[in-house]
Amino acid sequence: MSSGRCRVAVLGSGNGTNFEALAEAAGENWQIVVAGSDKPTAPLLAKAERRRVPRFSLDPRQFAGRDAHEKAMVAELEKHGPDLILLAGYMRILGPRLLQAWQGRMLNIHPSLLPAWPGLRTHERVLEAGDRMHGATVHFVTAELDRGPRIVQGRLSVRPEDSPPSLARRVLRLEHCIYPMAVGWYARNRLTMDNALALLDGKPLIQPVIVEESACA
Ligand code: GAR
Repeated sequence: MSSGRCRVAVLGSGNGTNFEALAEAAGENWQIVVAGSDKPTAPLLAKAERRRVPRFSLDPRQFAGRDAHEKAMVAELEKHGPDLILLAGYMRILGPRLLQAWQGRMLNIHPSLLPAWPGLRTHERVLEAGDRMHGATVHFVTAELDRGPRIVQGRLSVRPEDSPPSLARRVLRLEHCIYPMAVGWYARNRLTMDNALALLDGKPLIQPVIVEESACA
């Protein structure tokens, strides 16, 4: 990592509530240097503008294919020299170009207790299956979708009255708590990826760190 504060880029396609939580938590050890999106109208970009964070959007429909789009994404990101890329609701499957550019230096947040429920509609699927526990996972990004080494999970007990929107709200609160935590570890050189394992303070995370909902209030 370059000396000084860790330079973080955030990529997202949606509301950008994780971006906001990350921007609030940034400080001594890390800073958000750019926000990027594949959706020109993503509220994330307006949030970045309000915070005077440089931003860009690249609509994939304007490119010949995934590789051309990702080549342009990499070029935009590189202008800001990020040390770490954070996917925060970035709803595209990554190809080799983006994956290789920041291998071991790219994190994602996913709204389930991975390995349970990779992919979409996680809150609905948790309720349909009658799961008692649910939450969110921060993991390193690898070529396998939602399967990279897990770092930290925020966990909650599903309540009888929960619905997909109530779970979405509760899980987002967990996300806003655990994502800055993981970035803080990375920025302080405590978190690395080696041989497809996440290491915290040099020790392999065979299981992710668990943060209960009560600790994120
Ligand atoms: C978050 O719940 C995040 O976990 C999810 O999108 C939401 C983005 O919210 N990501 C995925 O589903 C990725 N597979 P935000 O735009 O308000 O941060």
